[in-house]
Amino acid sequence: MKTIIEPFKIKMVEPIKLTTSTEREARLRQAHFNVFQIPAEEVIIDLLTDSGTAAMSSEQWAGMIRGDESYAGARSWYRFEKVLKELTGMQHILPTHQGRASERILFELVGGAGKVIPNNNHFDTTRANIEHSGARAVDLVIGEGTQPQSRHPFKGNMDLEKLERLIAEVGAKNMPLCMMTVTNNSGGGQPVSLANLRAVKEICRRHGIPFFLDACRFAENAYLIKQREPGQGNQSARAIARTMFDLADGATISAKKDGLVNIGGVLLMRDDALAARANNLLILTEGFITYGGLAGRDLEAMAQGFTEVLDEHYLEYRLRSVAYLGEHLLSAGVQIVEPPGGHAIYIDARAFCPHIPAEQFPGQALVCALYRHAGIRAVEIGSVMFGAPDPQTGKATPPAMELVRLAIPRRVYTQSHIDYVVEAIIEILQKRESLSGLRIVEAPPVLRHFTAKFEEIG
Ligand SMILES: Cc1ncc(COP(=O)(O)O)c(C=O)c1O
Repeated sequence: MKTIIEPFKIKMVEPIKLTTSTEREARLRQAHFNVFQIPAEEVIIDLLTDSGTAAMSSEQWAGMIRGDESYAGARSWYRFEKVLKELTGMQHILPTHQGRASERILFELVGGAGKVIPNNNHFDTTRANIEHSGARAVDLVIGEGTQPQSRHPFKGNMDLEKLERLIAEVGAKNMPLCMMTVTNNSGGGQPVSLANLRAVKEICRRHGIPFFLDACRFAENAYLIKQREPGQGNQSARAIARTMFDLADGATISAKKDGLVNIGGVLLMRDDALAARANNLLILTEGFITYGGLAGRDLEAMAQGFTEVLDEHYLEYRLRSVAYLGEHLLSAGVQIVEPPGGHAIYIDARAFCPHIPAEQFPGQALVCALYRHAGIRAVEIGSVMFGAPDPQTGKATPPAMELVRLAIPRRVYTQSHIDYVVEAIIEILQKRESLSGLRIVEAPPVLRHFTAKFEEIG
């Protein structure tokens, strides 16, 4: 059969409130044109994030009932630890309440003034946690990674020459670790190849720099390697994922993505001394080392989710359904980051709204239009998220791309929901000259996209 179907049946449904455009206009204004401030019930199709929005399986829910809520050494913890050890081969598995808690612990230990931490592209919370520690976060993605039209199969790869140059410039002793985000969320959800992971690892090994993965979407990256990297087609997604982890000295994971859960995270490492210090911080700020800020039932759901996510029927459906959205937009003339990546489709807002300059936030203008027109919630990944003025110089540098991310929650929406999204975007494209730019009227000093207030220009 050519039709790739959802490899699951729906047993429980949640109604969607179908709002009117008058209601949405009022909501958008009340939210100061920031869709993070709109109640989820007022959203028809919520593509704000794929994080923590998955539908759990019946086995995960069964695990929630079985969860052992003992404070120390719960049965659920041992199951979770076993699953994670088998998946990653890492000695030290630290549960945390979500990805950024893993980042906070890691960078509190290895960050600090004078330190420099490269990545293909740091995710916003990763960058913020590194900078909060006083260290510098540097993005070294390959050139193709910033060109929406390039169809390079691994646009999440790191530029090896840039990495060598950075090490020479700052000195290996000032680089406490090098990270790679798989898939590269801030760079369009694009995968990283095994060849590139191996090459980065080799550079790190030569310079004595630990190599860490930001492995939130390890399974989607593994399956894209299987589909796209020569010689990998016969490997299982599980085997490829293990090869990826085998190259790393540690990893941070938000289980809210490929863990298929609504809350949870992991910090993984091999180094005993670093793990001992991390455990102390975990106890201080998250919880005892066998639950780390989570309930036993959450550990059960994660153990099951990290197992289910490597089912190749699931991964085939998942990647195909994301590509379906991307292909329909491309054929309607909407420039997206090509080729479609793992968890989301990213619209090139600069190409969509050529009349809106970066300082008037073309991505945010499109985000507002999506909500207004069809109740679709997306997120800007451009000058709002990454273009805040430098606190020291006051100068704002626009990021390489102005994107709008349509993130697809796992196992939540069906094909007709996605067809609705395609129809809405095509209708907005036809009247795109009417979209107005925005100005920020109020914003916090960090992670401003969550709470900034805007007003429309003109
Ligand atoms: C690549 C990446 N790293 C880290 C995080 C942070 O994870 P969390 O939201 O669980 O704190 C995210 C979340 O979206 C992410 O996409």
